[in-house]
Order: sequence, then structure tokens, then C-alpha cells
Amino acid sequence: MSGKILLVGFGPGAEEHMSYRAKSAIAEADVVIGYTTYIKLVKELLDGKEVVKKGMTEEIDRCIEAYEQAKEGKTVALISSGDIGIYGMAGPTYEILLQAGWTPDSAIKVEIVPGSTALSTCASLVGAPLTHDFCSISLSDLLTPWTTIARRLDAVAESDFVVALYNPKSGRRTQQIVQAQQILLRYRDAATPVAIVKSAYRRRQAIQLVRLDEMADCDIGMLTTVLIGNSSTYIDQGLMITPRGYANKYANLSGEAKPGEQAGRSLSMGLEGWKACLRRYLNQNDLSWEKVADYFTVPVGEVLSAVSLGSEENTPCKSHTAHQVHPEKYQLAIEASQNWGRLRGVVRTGTGAVVELFLQGGSFVRRSEWLNIENDHFHLHINWGKVSTAYFAWRKDKSYGLHFLDIHGQLIFRVLLTKHEGEFDSAQLESYQKDCLALSIDKTQEQSDD
Ligand SMILES: C[S@@+](CC[C@H](N)C(=O)[O-])C[C@H]1O[C@@H](n2cnc3c(N)ncnc32)[C@H](O)[C@@H]1O
Repeated sequence: MSGKILLVGFGPGAEEHMSYRAKSAIAEADVVIGYTTYIKLVKELLDGKEVVKKGMTEEIDRCIEAYEQAKEGKTVALISSGDIGIYGMAGPTYEILLQAGWTPDSAIKVEIVPGSTALSTCASLVGAPLTHDFCSISLSDLLTPWTTIARRLDAVAESDFVVALYNPKSGRRTQQIVQAQQILLRYRDAATPVAIVKSAYRRRQAIQLVRLDEMADCDIGMLTTVLIGNSSTYIDQGLMITPRGYANKYANLSGEAKPGEQAGRSLSMGLEGWKACLRRYLNQNDLSWEKVADYFTVPVGEVLSAVSLGSEENTPCKSHTAHQVHPEKYQLAIEASQNWGRLRGVVRTGTGAVVELFLQGGSFVRRSEWLNIENDHFHLHINWGKVSTAYFAWRKDKSYGLHFLDIHGQLIFRVLLTKHEGEFDSAQLESYQKDCLALSIDKTQEQSDD
């Protein structure tokens, strides 16, 4: 017999926010299975149906029950609030089915009926907080280790996403929201707008618009979704708004494009243009590699790459020069440093510490993954296996160096030529520039190979 499982997301709860297909799917079902509260929310649609109510912790039971009933040839609607595929029953149901040997070609058919998820329904009640990039994170540590949740919170907080927090708090889980607030405050202003929406489109609907530093003290429960703004989100007339980005291109929403911008085209700071922007900025501001990276909030590798891509035809960089080392020649480059005299080695740690050491080029010894210098003054161990890119790069008369970067473009270490009595040694400089020519990727050659 060929049964059917309908996995139905019925939206926030109010019938007018249920999709047409969600209603027709419930109408089509012989059996409706759901968490007790969900069954109550759709009770008007259940006349004449077999109804199976389950407790909140019986999620897997609900999936097994749906499969068992479908095996008997029945059409079963497994219902869930919001969207059933978002922190919902779609995942566990497929997991159970696949473990039982079910395939999409089996006699039992499965259909997922999408619904409006809590983040969009809650957003609709407070304005337009999600009109730019956002992330959702569940604070439930019932099935996810806290370290995973905390790492994700840290990443989205740093990346300036608007954040929707699902499952923010329950009777037993009271500290997760406090920890989340602390992590977000590492990167976000204390006044960042936060919307706390409880029971959206249900009888006890309640909305609070607060600041991020007030969030954890608010009335938050199991049926609450918390929306945290990004650095541009604001509150005006009681509405929480995240700008779509028009202000980057237009002086005002309906006016002419700003100088350098074109309607319908990527921003001058878009993928194509931003590296040229960075070079223009460098031409106007003769800054160190690190200062420019900080200004654009990018790893130093992005600055080196942008500078290396400048050309006479495409915004040449006048003050800074960078040439990418050929990937097979990193070892030769470090060996070549023995002809550059006394060097300053610079190592940066992720925590912000900077170590500067004077060393003699060529004193590096390679031992498997590691590049080492061991002498009476210091031991330096560089994880050579982490080196992903290298650049010869200089600022005329100021610094000449060889930079090694990791896969994220972060500096692992660099060696810089040193001055003697205020001047670079011309023979050492000549040797450095000759090595740069011999070991860098030849851009002209690359283009003609293409
Ligand atoms: C297990 S998740 C289910 C999410 C659901 N599948 C969805 O797409 O909205 C439960 C969480 O969803 C959020 N939620 C569900 N319905 C809500 C409502 N009506 N108002 C506010 N938040 C809601 C709350 O954060 C709650 O803790």
C-alpha cells in the first residue's frame, strides 16, 4: 500500500498566515500528528481526522508514528509551527526514514510543505530588521554542544550579520541568553537595537524593542524569537530598520547615483572595483600594510593582492609594490634571503602580540613542517605547513620585505631588510629585487598563457 507523509509547516499560528497548501495538506490527511500545542493551534482543521498528540520531547516518536501509519497506506500530516524544515521535524523524519531503508522511489511518498518561519513572522511585527544579510542561531544546547553555539555566535557577531536567536531561553536554560549577549557585546555597540518578539501572531503576542545591553534582562521565554540588529540597524518611530544599502549608492533614496556609482552596476567597492579603490586610497595615504588592512577590515593578504593587481591601465599603486611569489618557490625565496644582510623578522599572533627579531637571512633550518631559527638569543619556530601565499612587497625607501601568509591571508611572518646608518645597502637591495624578479609569478606570462 502506498501511504504518504506530509511534513507541514503551518506558520506562526494564526490561520490567515497559514499557506494555502498547508491547509489543503491537512485537509488531505487521514492522520494528523503533532506536539500538543500545535494540534490546539490548528484544531479547526481537524474534524473527522485521527489526531495523535505528542509531548515536546517525543520528536522521534512523532517521526516513527508517521512512518508506521504511512506504511499502513494512510496519508499522514506531521505538523510543526513556522517552517517544518527550520529547526523542525523535516530533518529527523528523513533521518528515521533513511535509516529504515526508505528511498525517494519507495511506495511511501514524502512532501514538505514550507511555512513562514519565526524569524520572518517576528520581523514583520517590528519593521524591517532583516532587509540585509542575517543568520539564525538556536541557543538550545539540548542537542548541540555549547562550544559550537558560542563559536557560531562569535563568528556572526564579528561579521556584522543581523542575528535571529531561536530557542533563546526556557525554564531550565536561563544562562545561554546571558552568554550570547556577552559574546555579541565583544563586537557590537551596547545600543544596538534588539527586538524581542513573544508568541508572534498568537493570543499572547508581546513585543519589546530594547538595546543589546538590556537584552538578557528582558522577558524572554520558549516562544520568543530575538532579533539583533547589525551596525547599521536603527529604530525610528518604533520601527526597527536595517538599511538595504541604498545610501552606499544614492545621496537620497530616489535621487541620482553618487559620483563614481552607477545604477544597476556593482558598487565602486563591489567585487570588481574594491581592489582599485584600495589602491586609490593607498595613493592618497602612504600607510603601512597593517594600517590599510585595518582601515578596510581585511586581512593583510587582501591588501598585498590588491596592490599586486594594479597596472598602468588599472589604477597603478604608486607608493606600494607587491609581487606574489610563485607557489613552488617559497623555499627558494626564504633561502635567497641569505643575500639580503641583517633582517628584521616580524611574527604576529592572532591575539595581537607582535614579535620582532633581528636575524641573519639564510639562518632558517627546515625540519619537516617547521622552519626554525635557534640561536643563543631566541628560538623561532614557524609552521611552514600553514604558509599558503607569499609576496615580495615594498614601500619605496621605507621597507622591503618578504611576507608569508596563511590560507586566510593573515600574516604568519615576514622578513624585512634593515637600514644601516639610515640607508638600505644598495647591493643587498639589488639582490632582493633580482630575487623578486626571479621568484615571483610573472603576470605578463600568466596573461599570455590564458
Ligand atoms: C523548535 S523552534 C521551531 C521553529 C519553527 N519551525 C519555525 O520555523 O519558526 C522553536 C522556536 O521557534 C521560535 N518561535 C516559534 N514560533 C514562534 C512565535 N509564534 N513567536 C515567536 N517565536 C516563535 C522560538 O524561538 C522558539 O523557541
